[in-house]
Amino acid sequence: MKSKTRFVCSECGYETRKWLGKCPACLQWNTFTEEIVEAAADSAPRASLPKAIPLNEVSKESERRAQTGIQELDRVLGGGIVDGSLVLVGGDPGIGKSTLLLQICGVLSENIKILYVSGEESVKQIKIRAERLSVNNGNILMVSETNFENINGLIEEIKPQVVILDSIQTVYSEQLTSAPGSVSQVREVTGHLMRIAKGQGITVFIVGHVTKEGAIAGPRVLEHMVDTVLYFEGERHQNYRILRAVKNRFGSTNEIGLFEMTQHGLKEVNNPSGLFLDCRAKDQPGSVIVASLEGTRPMLLEVQALVTPTSFGIARRMATGIDYNRLTMLLAVLEKKVGMQLFNHDAYVNVVGGIRIDEPACDLGVIASVAGSFKNQPVDPDIVIIGEVGLTGEVRPVNQVDKRIIEAKRLGFKKCLVPSGNKSSSTANIDGIELLYAGTVEEALAFLF
Ligand code: TYD
Ligand code: MG
Repeated sequence: MKSKTRFVCSECGYETRKWLGKCPACLQWNTFTEEIVEAAADSAPRASLPKAIPLNEVSKESERRAQTGIQELDRVLGGGIVDGSLVLVGGDPGIGKSTLLLQICGVLSENIKILYVSGEESVKQIKIRAERLSVNNGNILMVSETNFENINGLIEEIKPQVVILDSIQTVYSEQLTSAPGSVSQVREVTGHLMRIAKGQGITVFIVGHVTKEGAIAGPRVLEHMVDTVLYFEGERHQNYRILRAVKNRFGSTNEIGLFEMTQHGLKEVNNPSGLFLDCRAKDQPGSVIVASLEGTRPMLLEVQALVTPTSFGIARRMATGIDYNRLTMLLAVLEKKVGMQLFNHDAYVNVVGGIRIDEPACDLGVIASVAGSFKNQPVDPDIVIIGEVGLTGEVRPVNQVDKRIIEAKRLGFKKCLVPSGNKSSSTANIDGIELLYAGTVEEALAFLF
């Protein structure tokens, strides 16, 4: 008898009984792959039903967390690793995921047993890395394995408190015929791991590689299933790495952790603003300092722009570290509201340090850097620029402006350009730094040039 099959969209995991050319969920074409449906194994009657508890009797005892001592990591996780949670660490190959996890093992292994499963490297290779990181503890048990049934057996035998699976794309379950890394394998294995995490209170870290589109390979289904999704990002050729929580059932998703990749593994960066401004070129046209806020932590960053006449054809625009579309919008505002003729100029904008800013609060800084390069005039090196810019050229207020101003003051800046809309008694109370209020882009540029 032909076995029952289903069709799953490899982009989003949508399931159907019939083959479809276009996925009704994510609207992609030709993404359906056929997979075998397993028969439900246990037709035995349920032993016992779960008990529903009245809300007012649910104990408030918060989840137990293990502090890793790596502050940048603990903060991103919302105050430490929650026992029995399933954490996905995603990122480009070579960014440092295995390194980070091995370092986590290093700190956690002081008092707990860890099973480190690698489907990518041999135990010897991991040992070489561990030596580089000075991680050496008998509580870390290493195995190179890709068969999930074997891994499951090992977990039952060893009973570790933490399991690390590097990476989800290399592991397969015998139950399915599809290849490792396919939607169904990834889903199957993750589902099992979820049950292990919740059922036995074992914390599980899964490594996942990222595809070109930026989604964790072996579709988004993975993100929905786990408790926490951390992305490890950064430019491969630069040393800074950012750990970002994209999803977190146990904390905020705004926090970022900052690391530097060194000869001996990842080092925490506790004072990012100081670091990024260290080797900044003062008095250069096109260089400005903005105050970005990542979670609870303000970060001063240098934005650089280079505007040059287009030699032929269409003007080029390039954005590194900021959104491309946002840049073109800001250039259009400069063109229309300030009358800066940028249509026949190439514009390149870069955030120094390989950091990515996703915040509109840095708009005004981008505008100032482009204007500075266009006019070939430097801005005062002692000023920090804060403000979102709207389509009509207005400077819009930003959230938590006080934190940003205080960070600027802490790093020795003398002035802050802030949106008029942020003028309040609390900003007025910050002394030791001069505040310049601007309501429009024109006003702001008048202060700067
Ligand atoms: P790795 O953790 O293997 O990346 P991933 O698991 O995300 O694929 O780290 C890859 C890079 O980090 C590799 O190019 C070497 C570099 N590295 C260092 O610079 N210093 C170190 O101490 C270690 C262990 C790695
Ligand atoms: Mg790796």
